[in-house]
Amino acid sequence: MAPVNPTRVTERARHLAQEVLRPGDIALDGTAGKGRDTATLAQAVGPTGHVHGFDIQPQAIAATRNLLELAGLAPRATLHHRSHAELGAALPPAHRGRLGAAIFNLGYLPGGDAGIITKPESTATALRAAYQELRAGGRIICVAYTGHPGGVEESDVVRAFALEREAAGDPVERHGLVPNPGKPWVLVVTKP
Ligand SMILES: C[S@@+](CC[C@H](N)C(=O)[O-])C[C@H]1O[C@@H](n2cnc3c(N)ncnc32)[C@H](O)[C@@H]1O
Repeated sequence: MAPVNPTRVTERARHLAQEVLRPGDIALDGTAGKGRDTATLAQAVGPTGHVHGFDIQPQAIAATRNLLELAGLAPRATLHHRSHAELGAALPPAHRGRLGAAIFNLGYLPGGDAGIITKPESTATALRAAYQELRAGGRIICVAYTGHPGGVEESDVVRAFALEREAAGDPVERHGLVPNPGKPWVLVVTKP
């Protein structure tokens, strides 16, 4: 089987979010990075919707803000310089329970500090917190990488979340071979 191209994996993740987002939705980017996912979500929710982007790196928040401003999408987004594990506390009451899509593109910022990386414990917390905030039909899309130190452990917590939601009866999809050491994969959980 041909290796999975990470760029294509992130494109697929964005497409999976666009499929379910409707104008006026609230969306969440759990790892804003360079802002491409946040910008895609902001485009999809339209002028009446809103996106919350999280990142622990000031450079990522600045890059995302810059991209949104260049695209004219800044009024549709709030950027949070804090961990996605705190997303429940960060969302305004009027936006809680209304997420149409939440994207988590895990790992580290390409071209940035590879030491600043998502971690299994906070990822596990954030996935469950985001699930709580989904509307009916809303989706969590999570891109997990296994090729860096700690990646397999993080992928395992994503897999555990998938099994938990499957046991609860939710539709769960896994794109890419799982487990497939060194390769990324995409988890999609849709709230019934
Ligand atoms: C693969 S990059 C995200 C790429 C981004 N979605 C884009 O479209 O460019 C992963 C990002 O996760 C961020 N990150 C690491 N731990 C985090 C945490 N606990 N909460 C939020 N962001 C975190 C890193 O700073 C990094 O910018």
